[in-house]
Amino acid sequence: MTRVGILGGTGKTGRAVARALAARGAVPVPLGRAQWPDLSGALRGCAAAYLIAPNLHPDEPAHVSAILAAARAAGVGRVVHHSVAAPYAPDLPHHLGKARAEDLVRRSGLAWTILQPGAYLQNLPLDGSTIVVPYRLDAPFGFAHLDDLAEVAATVLLDEAHAGATYELASWRGDVSGVAAAVGAATEVLDPEEWARTDGAGLDERQRSWLLAMFAYYEAHGLPVGTVPMTTLLGRTPTAPARVSDR
Ligand SMILES: NC(=O)c1ccc[n+]([C@@H]2O[C@H](COP(=O)([O-])OP(=O)(O)OC[C@H]3O[C@@H](n4cnc5c(N)ncnc54)[C@H](OP(=O)(O)O)[C@@H]3O)[C@@H](O)[C@H]2O)c1
Repeated sequence: MTRVGILGGTGKTGRAVARALAARGAVPVPLGRAQWPDLSGALRGCAAAYLIAPNLHPDEPAHVSAILAAARAAGVGRVVHHSVAAPYAPDLPHHLGKARAEDLVRRSGLAWTILQPGAYLQNLPLDGSTIVVPYRLDAPFGFAHLDDLAEVAATVLLDEAHAGATYELASWRGDVSGVAAAVGAATEVLDPEEWARTDGAGLDERQRSWLLAMFAYYEAHGLPVGTVPMTTLLGRTPTAPARVSDR
């Protein structure tokens, strides 16, 4: 059975990718912080690896570089990098980190595929509770549903035909108002400075400023992403926002 290492495999995205791989009969090998001291040992026997960097990593290129070295040492043949839509956005420091990491992946000497998801639908509450965002409600987005994303990740991890491809991925095009209407939720726009004093207060200064930069970018441009690659790779209509019950 095909073993697939998942760097960041104990997190939200990694767990969804592990479920999708297991559903295809592959063996996911989730790797969190605990495996870093011997990453190449942890990756040995894996045919492919999925690279998810932690959110807002201060130096994503260095993080990805270490993973690529470990993958080479372990004899992992293929890597798939979990990037982001519009990585080269100079106003967004965490996107730029991904743009530079993509470059390292492309020059790694390994067979690679890059996935560039839009903002997750699951960043918003989908249970009917009030959706609060620090940017305008009609900013245009291409939202990625985590389950769709995980299904596509499993597809490209298990099929060498996707080597050398970069796919921008969204399940649904619309705005926060549209998501709220679909799940029957009220909405509220929070002033970013108020966010910094409340929800953002627990973050360190760098993380807070990177997120404030992201909110300003969303306010001005949103993060539009097309749905054609996701539809093609899934072979079905991607998942639209719908109310999720707590049960
Ligand atoms: N949310 C979005 O809308 C969106 C959209 C596009 C791309 N992304 C990208 O998706 C990624 C985040 O995924 P997620 O939401 O699944 O994150 P998450 O739930 O916070 O999980 C983070 C994972 O990274 C591991 N980790 C944390 N710090 C680490 C460190 N210093 N060294 C090694 N591993 C570490 C964690 O392992 P432990 O179990 O040891 O903590 C965990 O497995 C980010 O790269 C983000 O930019 C997100």
